[in-house]
Amino acid sequence: MYRSHTCNELRIENVGQEVRLAGWVQKSRKLGGMTFIDLRDRYGITQLVIDAQANQELLDLVSNIGREYVIQAIGEVIERASKNPKMDTGDIEIKVSHINILNSSVTPPFTIEDESDGGENIRAKFRYLDIRRNPVKNALILRHKLAHEIRNYLDALGFLEIETPYLIKSTPEGARDFVVPSRVNPGQFYALPQSPQTFKQLLMVGGCDRYFQIVRCFRDEDLRADRQPEFTQIDCEMSFVDQEDILNTFEGMMLSLFKNVLGIDIKENIPRMSWYEAMDKYGSDKPDIRFDMLIFELTQLAKGKGFSVLDSANYIGAIAVPNAADYTRKQLDEITEWVKRPQVGAKGLIYIKLNNDGSIKSSIDKFYSAEDLQSWAEHMGAKKGDLLLVMSGDNKRKVQNMLGVLRLEMANRLGLRNPKVFAPLWIVDFPLVEWDEETQRFYAMHHPFTAPKPEHMDLFYSNKKEDLERVSANAYDFVLNGSELGGGSIRIHNSEVQKRMFEVLGIGKEEAEEKFGFIINAFTYGAPPHGGLAFGFDRICSLFGGSDSIRDYIAFPKNNQARDVMIDSPSKIDNIQLEELGLKIESK
Ligand code: AMO
Repeated sequence: MYRSHTCNELRIENVGQEVRLAGWVQKSRKLGGMTFIDLRDRYGITQLVIDAQANQELLDLVSNIGREYVIQAIGEVIERASKNPKMDTGDIEIKVSHINILNSSVTPPFTIEDESDGGENIRAKFRYLDIRRNPVKNALILRHKLAHEIRNYLDALGFLEIETPYLIKSTPEGARDFVVPSRVNPGQFYALPQSPQTFKQLLMVGGCDRYFQIVRCFRDEDLRADRQPEFTQIDCEMSFVDQEDILNTFEGMMLSLFKNVLGIDIKENIPRMSWYEAMDKYGSDKPDIRFDMLIFELTQLAKGKGFSVLDSANYIGAIAVPNAADYTRKQLDEITEWVKRPQVGAKGLIYIKLNNDGSIKSSIDKFYSAEDLQSWAEHMGAKKGDLLLVMSGDNKRKVQNMLGVLRLEMANRLGLRNPKVFAPLWIVDFPLVEWDEETQRFYAMHHPFTAPKPEHMDLFYSNKKEDLERVSANAYDFVLNGSELGGGSIRIHNSEVQKRMFEVLGIGKEEAEEKFGFIINAFTYGAPPHGGLAFGFDRICSLFGGSDSIRDYIAFPKNNQARDVMIDSPSKIDNIQLEELGLKIESK
């Protein structure tokens, strides 16, 4: 037997017991002839003590033990002379009689402490050592707890966990596919699933009624803090349900996670907001509602005063930043430069200071009287001490979007985005399709399997662009603290409607048949009405853990060049493999 207890188990009640512990040497120090070793395992740390009277063999052994050695210690639990209230095992220590070195360790490239001295790159290369550190280990434990809770919740509601294949055909989630060449079908490729979307719908056609899967998805897209090329979804689908059934089911799931994993009891219903309201008031389809700072339209109020920038704009909007009227010229210049960065893309920024003494100072004093600006402030419900930031442009959504980005930035600067505060909401009533000027075609706002709202069927069959733009879908997103945690929709279950959807999206009959013939066909065999959604599991983990980087919650993540630096992947493959696959690499 390697161990009788873990390193976080022994307490004062165990004093006098003979025990065996096994783990890693966190640190070892000598003090007045005694040696103290902190022995660590997944569960915690226990102090070992080897006193000067121990036999010479043990003393020699101990003097050779270095950091991260794996040892087994046998000894008696004794009460500590100086207790450490910060440690769970701080009342006791083990008076060691025997030590077995189970494995040695070279000196690790960074300290295995909560605050490590290792930078991100070195920790990624030695991820297995990083995982020994509490913050990373705890993130994986949180992930496990969440997965466990989700399984329990869905199992209790009769959901079946069913696996779907990884080697499939392209799925239309809007990103690029990762492809895998087939050796036995030369010149042909599988695609890795961007999601199991089509399969879960086929499971509904198969009569499974309620499905879920904690499933890996693959998307070849540009990486961000909340995106990985392979990530995990909680993928769900239900038959004979309407939107209300789905929102209630998964609202229940999220509330149970808050309660059972974080101990947060959210009593109220999760609010719902239409996509249009979110865009108008927050400039985002994933609004952070932990703070207000809403966007207000000023188009009517601001136009016609001789200021050409605003007079020529189609849309003028503003946010009122609380208690920021005392921003200095330098700070305002800096924010203006910030919004001009290509990532935001604004041409400029107008400011209006509602000073605490009641005076108003703005960058457009030449064109607008204090009364004019006061009326803007009143329209926005702004108070003395607020700073109004105004933007304008041709395209309403674009300007709102820039104001939305600025809103988040100002909230970050003012410390209004506390990760310990949770403000979930549902975004509902998404438009079904979105027109893209560049390619002059419609794209599915969610994906092409999303059903138009029944009351919009006439518009859906119209050939007018403005009619199609007005079609809404029973599609919904679950948003938490400005992050899209999940999304889904009621699906099309009729093959004719599905064909029409492909037509609206400019996907020709042949292409639709070639790519999605299997699902159109399946719908002709009695597909039940169905709908579902998928949550981004990594994102749930990171938000529940209080971080905005999902990488911290994935055991072996990729870096921001989509590389796994630990195993050095992706990498070249040898010529024999290439030949077998019928592939040739052309050097660029
Ligand atoms: P969607 O594309 O919205 O919907 O994805 C669902 C959720 O998955 C998460 N997510 C990601 N997480 C990490 N890295 C990524 N690259 C990444 N991409 C997406 C997000 C997102 O909300 N099949 C549909 C769902 C449905 O209709 O049922 C789908 O995949 O949290």
